[in-house]
Amino acid sequence: MAPQRSPIRRADATAIAEAAAALRAGRLVAFPTETVYGLGADATNDAAVAAIFEAKGRPRFNPLIVHCPNLEQVARHGSLDERAKKLAEAFWPGALTLVLERRPESPVSLLCSAGLDSLALRVPAHPVAQALLEACDRPLAAPSANPSGRVSPTEARHVAEAIGDKVEMILDGGSCQVGIESSVVDLTGPTPRLLRPGGVTREALEAIIGEIGEAEAGPLRSPGLLSSHYAPLRPLRLEARDVRPSEALLAFGPEVPDGAAETVNLSETGDLTQAAARLFAALRALDRPQFSAIAVMPIPERGLGVAINDRLRRAAAPRAAADQQPSPTPHASLD
Ligand code: TXA
Ligand code: MG
Repeated sequence: MAPQRSPIRRADATAIAEAAAALRAGRLVAFPTETVYGLGADATNDAAVAAIFEAKGRPRFNPLIVHCPNLEQVARHGSLDERAKKLAEAFWPGALTLVLERRPESPVSLLCSAGLDSLALRVPAHPVAQALLEACDRPLAAPSANPSGRVSPTEARHVAEAIGDKVEMILDGGSCQVGIESSVVDLTGPTPRLLRPGGVTREALEAIIGEIGEAEAGPLRSPGLLSSHYAPLRPLRLEARDVRPSEALLAFGPEVPDGAAETVNLSETGDLTQAAARLFAALRALDRPQFSAIAVMPIPERGLGVAINDRLRRAAAPRAAADQQPSPTPHASLD
């Protein structure tokens, strides 16, 4: 039964212990990570993992990230080569997901791999995520806690608004500091590939393991790459240098054009880290029916700007007609 009251709980020791018990019993708990809020389930429980797909309205072929408290636990589920060990040492705990060859003895549900023989694994840094992983003593499958195709949540109330009736509890750990999802690096082939730009920049990754290739075109390797994704309901107009009547403005930097119905500045000082942290909350704040569109100022294509622009392009991509209605019905084809 869906709980009547708000499932948001301050993430103190009692709430974390209750959340861990609920997860072990096969229920869904949303929890904060340093990137975005995750919709968590016991990754070793098929029914619990299936409930994630159900709650998100997510297509079955999308594999899920499995979260572990440390590298030792990751090693139970995925094969770690030298590249993986180096990246883990440099960036874990943190905003990096590694796609590794799945170990045959891993108890993780095959649903998490969605038919692939790989597994996406991450050690999150957020203290609440860490405490929860320790307390429940299970790997946790957790996609971003938003309905499929929608803007990822960076605050507990974002989760409550969108899928509050589908979870046992939402652990409130404040605003996510990174604010954009983890970078996903595929290490299953001879050349590492960046499947999704995210909280760790390509430059930082390449400084550790050398050149990283692009995601391959062709069959879907990472649904985070689908062209329409992270979509607000209002259309986005990218690279805007002016504002049209009734448009809201997503600004960046000190020089902002006049005339917007409303403006949110991602960073007055032009700081890309601050901009990433504010991105999803800003899109939500401006996604209101009185605005005809959201004009987005240019963001430099460097450092975290690559991940920010990636999300903005997907948010601006044309969508299926059915999806342009502000309807709670999720896409059939998006993450
Ligand atoms: O920051 C994050 O990564 C957040 C927090 C909650 O950890 N999680 C997140 O999960 O963004 P999700 O499910 O929304 O995105 C997972 C991404 C997708 O692009 C998915 O396709 C890719 O990881 N992925 C997962 N398993 C994969 C696999 N075996 N092979 C290729 N890509 C995979
Ligand atoms: Mg997502």
